[in-house]
Amino acid sequence: MRILVIGGTGFIGRFVIPLLHDSGHTVTVFHRGASVASLPPGVRSLRGDRHHLLAHQHELRALAPDVVIEMIASSGAQTRTMMDTFRGAAQSTGVSTELLPCAEGRD
Ligand SMILES: NC(=O)c1ccc[n+]([C@@H]2O[C@H](COP(=O)([O-])OP(=O)(O)OC[C@H]3O[C@@H](n4cnc5c(N)ncnc54)[C@H](OP(=O)(O)O)[C@@H]3O)[C@@H](O)[C@H]2O)c1
Repeated sequence: MRILVIGGTGFIGRFVIPLLHDSGHTVTVFHRGASVASLPPGVRSLRGDRHHLLAHQHELRALAPDVVIEMIASSGAQTRTMMDTFRGAAQSTGVSTELLPCAEGRD
């Protein structure tokens, strides 16, 4: 599957990303680039701030992810923005998109 991980170069990501990659998935990580990332070869890195997710909507949706793993959302508003960013992407690509907010997202 094509998996997009929002955040994922940090403490938890350094375990999750290699597991996903070694399982044969095509993995892209979206992050600011502030953290030092040693991503496995073949894992793509997209730079951007999660607080401006909609500004990156075009390039993120162009990835046509089957699964989006949100690692850093900390509020309901952030989770809703994430849902808005990818809503309908499945229909436009013909691929089913599953959204897995990591945070429960309580305002
Ligand atoms: N570590 C724990 O024990 C633990 C326990 C419970 C819950 N959590 C939660 O789980 C999540 C991940 O934890 P973690 O320890 O892996 O965090 P972390 O080490 O701080 O890593 C955060 C990741 O998110 C990216 N990131 C942070 N702010 C961003 C922004 N505004 N836009 C885009 N990317 C951003 C970072 O990359 P850049 O800096 O390059 O942007 C990095 O990839 C967090 O929400 C944390 O609160 C962690």
